[in-house]
Amino acid sequence: MDQSVIVKMPSVFQSLEKRCIEIGFTMPSDVYIGTLLKSLIASKPSAKVLELGTGVSLSLAWMIEGLDEDSHLISIDNDPKLVSIAKEYFGNDHRVDLQCCDGTDWIKNYQGGKFDLVFADAWPGKYSELEEVLDLINVGGFYVIDDMNPQPNWPEGHAEKAKGLVTYLESREDFSITKMNWSTGVILCTKKK
Ligand SMILES: C[S@@+](CC[C@H](N)C(=O)[O-])C[C@H]1O[C@@H](n2cnc3c(N)ncnc32)[C@H](O)[C@@H]1O
Repeated sequence: MDQSVIVKMPSVFQSLEKRCIEIGFTMPSDVYIGTLLKSLIASKPSAKVLELGTGVSLSLAWMIEGLDEDSHLISIDNDPKLVSIAKEYFGNDHRVDLQCCDGTDWIKNYQGGKFDLVFADAWPGKYSELEEVLDLINVGGFYVIDDMNPQPNWPEGHAEKAKGLVTYLESREDFSITKMNWSTGVILCTKKK
């Protein structure tokens, strides 16, 4: 199997990649996590989805492909430039709510319903406010993170933080955990009853 061949790319993907280069965004999600997110979301009719870290919308473009008509997705980033790019591409999609705010503030103030999938791709919800975010996941829902294999851009001390995060997730009796040495190092946690 040649995993580098991905036939059905989101139609806007190339354009988003171009924007990424233009603005010098160095943290884009790769296509592999994108396809995984799309497939996981497609398994949830009327999905409620949360993305922490919109970035240049590369992962968002994939996630939207997995949404059905009755689904709803909230994506959050604290960089107004990035949120305005996301709005340019997806602002008219009634299923998508793009918010420019600090992830920590959002998590601490959120009072809505739980989610079927959370992609935590920013510090909040991954290395901080983790318990709060795990509490927001429906039974049968997914918590997904990537960049768990050592990355060239990791600052000093980050490897220990990543290791601590994995150990904590493995200690949670209420989640089933799969670690995948694939893409940038993906962890998929499923909320159990
Ligand atoms: C790894 S990138 C996300 C990449 C994105 N998923 C994509 O496909 O382009 C992390 C993002 O988190 C955002 N971010 C960093 N700190 C944040 C915070 N405290 N609250 C909200 N967003 C934050 C950054 O602006 C950045 O866009």
